[in-house]
This record gives sequence, structure tokens and C-alpha cells, in this order.
Amino acid sequence: MARQKKKPEKVKSASSVVTRSGTASELITPHATLDDLKVAARSCRACDLWKLGTQTVFGEGSAKARIMLIGEQPGDQEDRMGRPFVGPAGRLLDLALTAAGIDRSEVYVTNVVKHFKWSPAERGKRRIHKKPRYSEIRACRPWLDAELEIVKPRVLVCLGASSAQSLLGRDFRVTQRRGQFVDSTLAPYVMATVHPSSILRAQDEDSRHVQMEAFISDLKKVAELLRSPSPKDKRAA
Ligand code: URA
Repeated sequence: MARQKKKPEKVKSASSVVTRSGTASELITPHATLDDLKVAARSCRACDLWKLGTQTVFGEGSAKARIMLIGEQPGDQEDRMGRPFVGPAGRLLDLALTAAGIDRSEVYVTNVVKHFKWSPAERGKRRIHKKPRYSEIRACRPWLDAELEIVKPRVLVCLGASSAQSLLGRDFRVTQRRGQFVDSTLAPYVMATVHPSSILRAQDEDSRHVQMEAFISDLKKVAELLRSPSPKDKRAA
């Protein structure tokens, strides 16, 4: 008699779902919409970061967006508001998008990890951002794959090294390859650039200006691409 494949178990507790696989994959139902995913992700317990964060911060934007921007993880304000890139880095991102001629409505914005990882500051009440571990990125990855599957962006932009390395390989160096379109199966066009928060950390006004201009110039390449259909674009025509 053929052995039946055992279904992955879900352990339900009050309003949460802990997965046996250690990733979010069991929470993703076939044909889910972005809204369905967002609701399901609220109770994700695939890793322990839900204990630290106030809430899951799911991606935001249209399912028809042609550009997907992927950051590392929500920050302090994103965690409180439940929306990606709404804090200082998000405001800088908005300015850069506008300067590059990209309308935010054309963009789907998300993160590789959907909970805020932080530790308390030594003094005061500040919550200090902590880099997610590989296991946390892996646990969260099915959400991102599901977002990619629905949105199917024409251009995918990784913001910062964590995002780039988790999507393009651990050896990827944003410092060396920023602003270049690289080969990837994730989307017809894939680029990595700096994370907007790195610009906020610039040492002085002059270097902040230079870094911002370089960021805008990377985003302008994306805007340019959207204006000109190319044979490489599998979704064009
Ligand atoms: N930084 C990120 O990578 N993502 C956010 O949503 C906010 C800040």
C-alpha cells in the first residue's frame, strides 16, 4: 500500500500559529491574495521574532506594481505603525523615489524579515535595531516568495546588504555592484543599492548629499527601464 505523505502539522494556540517546518511555508495557502497573506502573517510564529515585535509588518503596495523594493526588516516606527518604510528611512526613500521620477503607487515595498528585531539601549528607552540571523531570514522567506509570486515585479531592488545577500547570495557586495542589473531568476531585472538608513547615518551634510545623489541615480536607472520596453522583459508586450 502506498504510504501517504504526512501533512505538515500546525499547532494552534489562541491566535497564533507555530509551524513545524520552522518556516512560514505552512501558513501560505494556494491562490492567496496579498490581503490573505497579510492576514495570515499576523499570526506567524515561524521564528521567535514575533515575541519582540509589536506586530507583523507585511509588504505594502499594489499587486500590479512594476517595482518591488525589498529592505531588511521593519524599524522602530514601522513596528509601531504596522507598515513598511514609514519611519525616517522610509521618508528618505520617498524623497529619492520622487527625485528619480518614480511614483510610490508603482512600487510594492516589503522586507526580507517581517518583524522588528531589537535590543534595549543601554540607557533610555530606545530600541536598537539588531541584524536578523540566517535562521530568521529563512523562516520568513516563504512570505517574500509568495509576495513575488503574486506581484511578479518587472524590477526588483534590494535595499542594503542584508536584503541583497539574502536574495542574491552571501558573497554579494553592494559596495562593488550597486546600481548594476544582475542576473537573477527573481525578476526580469534585479538590482541592489544601498539601504536608505545608511544615508541617514552619513558623517556630515556633504557626504549625505553625495550619497543621496548616488541613491537617486541608481533609482533613475529603474525609472528609465520602465519607460523603455526591452526584449529581456518577459512581461512586456
Ligand atoms: N528599514 C527597512 O529595511 N525596512 C523598513 O521597513 C524600515 C526600515
